[in-house]
Amino acid sequence: EKGGYDHFMLKEIMEQPKSIEDCLRGRVIAEDLHVKLGGIQQHLPDLLNANRIIILACGTSWHAGLVAEYVFEELTRIPVEVEYASEFRYRNPIVGKGDVIIAISQSGETADTLAAIEMAKERGATILGVCNVVGSSIARASHEGAYTHAGPEIGVASTKAFTAQLTVLTSMALMVAKEKKSISENRLSELLRDLEQVPAKVEQVLKLDSAIESIAEIYKDASNCLYLGRGYNFPVALEGALKLKEISYIHAEGYPAAEMKHGPIALIDEEMPVIFIATRDSSYDKVVSNIQEVKARKGRVIAIVTEGDALIPKMVDHVIEVPNIHEMLMPMISVIPLQLLSYYIAVMRDCNVDQPRNLAKSVTVE
Ligand code: M6R
Repeated sequence: EKGGYDHFMLKEIMEQPKSIEDCLRGRVIAEDLHVKLGGIQQHLPDLLNANRIIILACGTSWHAGLVAEYVFEELTRIPVEVEYASEFRYRNPIVGKGDVIIAISQSGETADTLAAIEMAKERGATILGVCNVVGSSIARASHEGAYTHAGPEIGVASTKAFTAQLTVLTSMALMVAKEKKSISENRLSELLRDLEQVPAKVEQVLKLDSAIESIAEIYKDASNCLYLGRGYNFPVALEGALKLKEISYIHAEGYPAAEMKHGPIALIDEEMPVIFIATRDSSYDKVVSNIQEVKARKGRVIAIVTEGDALIPKMVDHVIEVPNIHEMLMPMISVIPLQLLSYYIAVMRDCNVDQPRNLAKSVTVE
């Protein structure tokens, strides 16, 4: 059942080229400039005319929502808010007709997310579900939706569901942008082509597993860890930190790299591993300065960089090279080494990787 792997988590990490491919199938055909999610045809006009999109989710799904916020705003120019379902539902939010809610949930059973969309629906908003489990409560409570088609995810730590969520959400943003004509044909074509290349590029990153295992060996006894990224990679920093804390019980925090000097920089010394997601994108130069700030305080730096980067490898302790891709799609690639790193660290610490203490796969109580 684990397909020859020691844990479901590793199996699910390794399945990602296929799960992303499955998620794209029939929905994206770059050659024809085709991008369409069959499940949200009826409510597409609501999206096109939306005053605002509100994304509701918890945990890893909320991180996927943060990436989607940047992607939707950039491509469609519709204002997006991303909210923890648990906060949204209890603060008498301003929501109603003209708002489109996107609820993201692997299990489709998360109690807070379900209650939040029920409330928003009552107040007149359109609800679109992005769920993995077919026929789940959130999928049923939504007006329409698009499944992530990642297949069953058994490991408590979400991996393939996250990359499938990013695939669906990016496709959805591209579909809206195409309809709204808020994107040029050239840019649409470039992004669709890059999207089709994601599975092969993920495959390439998965081959770094033994290099990542060696880095894990060095840092397995750390008691703290900081993850930093900017722009599209900021949510990846949050996700990397969540993966590490939930399965290895190492205290980890993710931050937008620029926030470091507003507090967390005080934590940095030679004992502190800092993981930078520092791929070549529009925030690159800024991230390089942030790496310098950490090195000046003797932090140990592991950097996820774009293949061929000549600068960062000279500055840091370890580099993990990933293939280049459009910055909007990079989270699907840059998260992979972080999944593997936390997996190997958890295994080396003898943790119960698939069923970490105190956690359940779906959180059906608030
Ligand atoms: O099933 P959902 O996507 O609604 O679950 C949300 C969170 O409970 C979930 O992502 C959780 O944070 C994972 N254990 C993270 O790996």
